Amino acid sequence: MARNERSQCLPLTPSVSGCLLLACGPDFAESIRTIRAVITHSASPKPPDHFPVTILNTVSPPLLVIQMLVPSPEDPQAPNHYSPFMVLPMSDIEPTGASFGAVVHNVELRSLDAAAFHVIHEAWLEYGLLIFPGQFFSTAEQDTFARRFGDLEFKATPITNIGADATVRTNPDDDVVKATRGTHGWHHDSTFMPLQAKGAVFSADIPAEGADTRWADMRGAYDALDNPTRDLLRGLTAKHSLLYSMGRRDLLPQANEHGGYDKYGYHGQEAPVRPLIKVHPDTGRPNLLAGAHAHDVSGMDPVESEKFLDRLHNQACLAARVYQHEWTVGETCIWDNRRLMHQGVPFDMTLPRRMWHTRIAGDPKSELALNYSDPSPVDADKPVFG
Ligand SMILES: [Fe+2]
Repeated sequence: MARNERSQCLPLTPSVSGCLLLACGPDFAESIRTIRAVITHSASPKPPDHFPVTILNTVSPPLLVIQMLVPSPEDPQAPNHYSPFMVLPMSDIEPTGASFGAVVHNVELRSLDAAAFHVIHEAWLEYGLLIFPGQFFSTAEQDTFARRFGDLEFKATPITNIGADATVRTNPDDDVVKATRGTHGWHHDSTFMPLQAKGAVFSADIPAEGADTRWADMRGAYDALDNPTRDLLRGLTAKHSLLYSMGRRDLLPQANEHGGYDKYGYHGQEAPVRPLIKVHPDTGRPNLLAGAHAHDVSGMDPVESEKFLDRLHNQACLAARVYQHEWTVGETCIWDNRRLMHQGVPFDMTLPRRMWHTRIAGDPKSELALNYSDPSPVDADKPVFG
């Protein structure tokens, strides 16, 4: 947190290594620096290099628990373990009330130092979705923030129905209108590309009334499954394709003279194959991975597969695992695309709307499709939207 002056340190238990001190001031970032200094001078044979953060939502206000990776004092060669260390009240983080997501107040994303960013990053992994009011990012600032989470799949791109002549595009046959309607199905971004996206930064510039965004917690959906269903899903894969998801809903764009499509994601390569259960590379937690682009589940005929996936989505996206956000101008959010599905809420498309979307590339080690060995981007020269 940039300035969490209400924070106080309350030791839970002393560190098991017995060589670490509590040191917290009113300035959160300064506190982190102080703790780092203490660790550096501790008797630990191998000073820890990062601070796992856990956020407890079961109390009010939520608590931020910072733990440290420390070696066992009895056996320095033993595997490292986490030691409870200190607790901060996180009155600046307001959980959504769903099984994920939080609104983070009083943070200036432009000026996060490394320690404050670390807390934001850990909170992102914990909550899956963070919403930051009042950022009013420029596109360059948005991209700079997104790059702190990883390489970009593409830079800030307008998601808008406002044409070059400043009129609102409303013709149902317009490719922009079709693309917008295409976002109204539940999906993970870029599962149709060789490399699924890691996440997205999304900002409200002209937020049309009713044009909300919903997210659904696929980790929570997995957790709710019984063991036989988990075992069944664990052995299955699906193909992912924009041609399928948009074609099924009669939303394919204008074809070129060769019968192909000159839009991002409509590549002519093999449809990426992905498992229906994805293990999150950072948290180690499994979640469902399907969405509108998924089709042709392994071992099923196309009709059976479609029914199976529709049923899976309906069961996964229950209200308790869904958060719907009404946008206010200047807000920015970041979501974890590996864990969450999302969809746009249908709205009156005669209203002008402009949002900015920066997409963070997945890690080839964990987001590359099973049938691809090369994470090189495809369609990099095609327009992303419209
Ligand atoms: Fe999307």
